[in-house]
Amino acid sequence: MPSSTGENTLLDGFRLVPGRLDREAQEALRDAIRAVAVEAPLYRPSMPRTGKPFSVRMTNCGPLGWVSDQSGYRYQPTHPGTGRPWPAIPEVLLSLWKELADYPHPPEACLVNFYEAEARMGLHQDSDEAEFAAPVLSVSLGDSCLFRIGGLDRRDPTRSLRLASGDVLLLGGASRLAFHGVDRIYPGTSTLLAQGGRINLTLRRVTKPDESPEW
Ligand code: SIN
Ligand code: MN
Repeated sequence: MPSSTGENTLLDGFRLVPGRLDREAQEALRDAIRAVAVEAPLYRPSMPRTGKPFSVRMTNCGPLGWVSDQSGYRYQPTHPGTGRPWPAIPEVLLSLWKELADYPHPPEACLVNFYEAEARMGLHQDSDEAEFAAPVLSVSLGDSCLFRIGGLDRRDPTRSLRLASGDVLLLGGASRLAFHGVDRIYPGTSTLLAQGGRINLTLRRVTKPDESPEW
């Protein structure tokens, strides 16, 4: 059970695998994500309607990437700045998905969030996908954060847990549409990123697959 504060019970299908990636695996993944960001540079998205900039910067890898701008949230096959297709999802992430997702098709999107010390992520649901039978698989790298998770209604009680570099978290089953967010980053808690900060990777299946398994 993760260390936590608050009263609510975590929904079924929520799973935290602390320290799933050792330092060597974290460094390899960090380097793979650096290569992704060379091909598909981090950019600062803006909120639908208001156009307010996010405090995190983002990029994606995979056939589809999650984007947000004044016209809304959506998945698209190309980087909004360069117009090029997103780079492939690193093999190590595909292996993690195979091992932990309990879902017979590959992920289609890997959102890369980069948090500097002051960045946050407000409470939200991951609901822009057509397929909710697959979990969201999230990997944390770099500085620790305070992650908050609630229920299926925004007003449900929430619980807070600290996520550290190398931790893997799954929102599957009943927790797939749980509200969640990042309240704060703890600067200086990891040496993985030379300039500090936190990287979060979320793997998602976006479309409903055909009947036949893809692997
Ligand atoms: C997200 O919900 O997109 C990010 C969660 C996190 O940074 O841990
Ligand atoms: Mn999310």
